[in-house]
Amino acid sequence: MHIGVVGCGYWGPNLVRNLSENRLCTRLSICDLETHKLERLRLRYPAASFFTDYAEMLAQPDLSAVMIATPPAVHHPLAKQALARGLHLFVEKPFVAASEQGEELIRLAAEQGRSIAVGHTFLFSPPVVKTREIVDRGELGKVYYISSTRVNLGLHQKDISVVWDLAPHDLSMIMYWLGEVPVEVLATGKDFVQPGIPDVAFIFLRFASGAIAHIQVSWLAPSKLRRTTIVGSAKMLVYDDTENLEQVKIYDKGVNYKDPDSFGEYQLSYRTGDIVSPRLENYEPLAAEVNDFLTAIRDGRRPRTDGLDGLRVVRVLEAAERSLSNSGHAEVIDDEPGVR
Ligand SMILES: NC(=O)c1ccc[n+]([C@@H]2O[C@H](COP(=O)([O-])OP(=O)(O)OC[C@H]3O[C@@H](n4cnc5c(N)ncnc54)[C@H](O)[C@@H]3O)[C@@H](O)[C@H]2O)c1
Repeated sequence: MHIGVVGCGYWGPNLVRNLSENRLCTRLSICDLETHKLERLRLRYPAASFFTDYAEMLAQPDLSAVMIATPPAVHHPLAKQALARGLHLFVEKPFVAASEQGEELIRLAAEQGRSIAVGHTFLFSPPVVKTREIVDRGELGKVYYISSTRVNLGLHQKDISVVWDLAPHDLSMIMYWLGEVPVEVLATGKDFVQPGIPDVAFIFLRFASGAIAHIQVSWLAPSKLRRTTIVGSAKMLVYDDTENLEQVKIYDKGVNYKDPDSFGEYQLSYRTGDIVSPRLENYEPLAAEVNDFLTAIRDGRRPRTDGLDGLRVVRVLEAAERSLSNSGHAEVIDDEPGVR
């Protein structure tokens, strides 16, 4: 398949590298507005074709699909152009800047019989997949709550807040683990460095199952933390993405409440058992994601993270943003079919 990549800033070159290492991609076209970025890639991929004009890249008759890694503000117009050409589409997270744009792209793709994949890369990551297996087989019991921290002294984006930049990762993982979308979102945050662009945010989610979740995202923190805790009725799990070894740990810890035999005599029993770190597979998540996109096209099946998954995340981001600019007011998310 002949695959085009548009946007070769920080992330796009990772897509290019993984395409170049995948046998299903037989030809590569690469597009960016800035020639110096293309020149760097031309040295490494001399057989690829290079474009500064996106329409020119799309005009090639044998192109099968386009992967978009530009700033989110231009995901929608670039995606629309690709679908108008009848191409399969991969769009980096966040899928689009507004849910109506996502709904339109999903409709256009369905009309064309084309797939849309959305770059929720973490859903291809071994610790995240393992965590889903652990939750699914009920090892943690009923999930009570999830708490996620994604902070560092990060690159301040010029056009989107930290919510749109970092929270898509946690939202996509939490919805994947729980198999449901939140029904209510509350968020607070602040623009400490650039006026109008929040760089710190605290997001609260409430789910119909009774689970609750909290996400802290920040570009303004002294050290890099990528840590999620899942507390269940039976066990607890910690996933730390900054760990080299033992990224997932299951703690056999908990508190049991024993109904009182007589009034006022309730008892709590605390349990502190083993800590187990499951064996994880070792592969690059982005390689798995790119391979899933290409095999989905080849086999005519839906990609593992598709446009609807992207749209669900965008809906929560919008609700979080509304809440954030409305003093943390609780925003209800419309009824949605389950994620699974
Ligand atoms: N999946 C992940 O883990 C992950 C990680 C980082 C970034 N991302 C996503 O990747 C996307 C790109 O992020 P980035 O940090 O690389 O941004 P960036 O600003 O570093 O790069 C974007 C590039 O797009 C180019 N561009 C913009 N408009 C264009 C157009 N019309 N035609 C051709 N080129 C155009 C720019 O010249 C620039 O080189 C974002 O959506 C971001 O959220 C995903």
